[in-house]
Amino acid sequence: MSDKLITAAMSARASAHAPYSDFLVGCAVESENGEIAQGANMENVCYRLGVCAEQSALAAAQIAFGLGKVKRVLVVGGPRSADETASGDPVMPCGGCRQAIMEAAQISGRDIEVTCCDHNGGQQVTTSISALLPAAFSFTKD
Ligand code: THU
Repeated sequence: MSDKLITAAMSARASAHAPYSDFLVGCAVESENGEIAQGANMENVCYRLGVCAEQSALAAAQIAFGLGKVKRVLVVGGPRSADETASGDPVMPCGGCRQAIMEAAQISGRDIEVTCCDHNGGQQVTTSISALLPAAFSFTKD
């Protein structure tokens, strides 16, 4: 996984707004042309209105280059209090974010690589959206 994508996700994580969970997540989305969009989790005092880092990054990606060009997604995250020198558990995208990443894959007709990391960009697990969300829902209009 390119350092560029890890650096982008880590820098987005530094802008996370997560005063309620104190769990900071950053996400970087890379296009097939190497462009990068970033996002971070944005919580709200009305808890259910919070937005995950992946969905925030996908919104930025749609504006920057279009969801149909998404090639790779990288997520970094961990507690605010996490020791910078220690490793943690990789953040696996929640179910809703898996569906949101799948939306981009369905537009392009190609699978998307997903890399999950701890708060330092370590402990990487690289997989694909089709593996994370098998038998995904979709429908076609008449
Ligand atoms: N979160 C994400 O940003 N992405 C995920 O895939 C999992 C969870 C955020 C939501 C909330 O702000 C915090 O992490 C704790 O759940």
